[in-house]
Amino acid sequence: MQELEGRSDVVGLHKGEPAGNAPLHVVEAAHRQAVEGARYGPGGGLPQLRGAIAAKLGTVNGIADVTSASVVVTHGAVQGCAAVFDALLEAGDEVLVPDAGWPNYRVLAHLRGARVKSYRLVPAEGFAPDLDHLVAQLTPSTRIMVVNSPSNPTGWVGSDGMMSELVDLVRRHGCLLVADEAYDQLVFDGGVASSAAFDPDHVISLFSFSKTYSMTGWRVGYLHAPQWLVDAVIRIEEGTLGGVSVVTQAGALAALEGPQDVVDERLITYRRRRDLVAARLAAAGLELVAPAGGLFAFLPTGGTPSDEAAARLIELGVAMVPGTVFGAGGEGFLRASLGADDPELDKGIGLYVRWRLQGSDDGE
Ligand SMILES: Cc1ncc(COP(=O)(O)O)c(C=O)c1O
Repeated sequence: MQELEGRSDVVGLHKGEPAGNAPLHVVEAAHRQAVEGARYGPGGGLPQLRGAIAAKLGTVNGIADVTSASVVVTHGAVQGCAAVFDALLEAGDEVLVPDAGWPNYRVLAHLRGARVKSYRLVPAEGFAPDLDHLVAQLTPSTRIMVVNSPSNPTGWVGSDGMMSELVDLVRRHGCLLVADEAYDQLVFDGGVASSAAFDPDHVISLFSFSKTYSMTGWRVGYLHAPQWLVDAVIRIEEGTLGGVSVVTQAGALAALEGPQDVVDERLITYRRRRDLVAARLAAAGLELVAPAGGLFAFLPTGGTPSDEAAARLIELGVAMVPGTVFGAGGEGFLRASLGADDPELDKGIGLYVRWRLQGSDDGE
């Protein structure tokens, strides 16, 4: 969808970008660090930042006894995921991923010679994992099960019950749960469900500053993992990254230590936009599984194949991502971003609604 860059005639609901910019105090802290001097930092991240992350994981995510030694600063959640896969996977291992799910899990697993299997989601249950199908995919070669809550693209948020069930499953099966919680603080109705809170020995949790603080281009995230894995990941970080930019880390520290009202404000904004989308579809009599968290609404195409629907909507003036980008399970859906501002979102959803009401199947 690169070709849409700069097109003013198309409303862009396709991007995975959050609203607004990084808070000013974050930018200023990074600037100060650069002026004072930016040198190599330790592989696992700056000690002060690891300490602040440990504190946040206790208070916000409810993970008990977190110390700075059990967290690693990463070059975004994506590189955290890559480093964990590097540390854990051997050729022939199997990785179980959600379908529909963030496509990078597949790419990263394939690059490491692993086989990818997927588990189905149940749209009627808010896109929760189909547990029977998931269990049927487990084999002696399964090394990692991935869960993503809040989910990109579906907006599903795992309940405590579901999370503890998944953790139980991996424990019994002798594999590990990689819990991608990049959107952990974007939960619309209720608190954060963090799987590591249930069993830190079998869960690796990935987090990000990208969405919470609108810092996608800063490239900073972190992970929490059992100690043996933290040590392996730090060796990988030292060998491949030389650590995350200390300028970025200074900004990340300011984000955690500074006022958190920006997080609350953005959450309120995304919730309002979720409600706006849900209200417009409901008023038109169109079905929707309203997202419970994250940055996206997963809209049904009404039977039109996703690729065709996305192409038709671009002609009509709005860009959304075809659900099939996220796997075969995304067929029949389009991903629309809640990061677009209210007027854009309203206009884009209006075009979608009009297309659906005209009979989306006929491609009118
Ligand atoms: C589910 C999910 N995990 C991880 C990431 C990557 O986050 P980061 O920017 O921290 O690499 C994204 C980004 O879109 C995402 O949607």
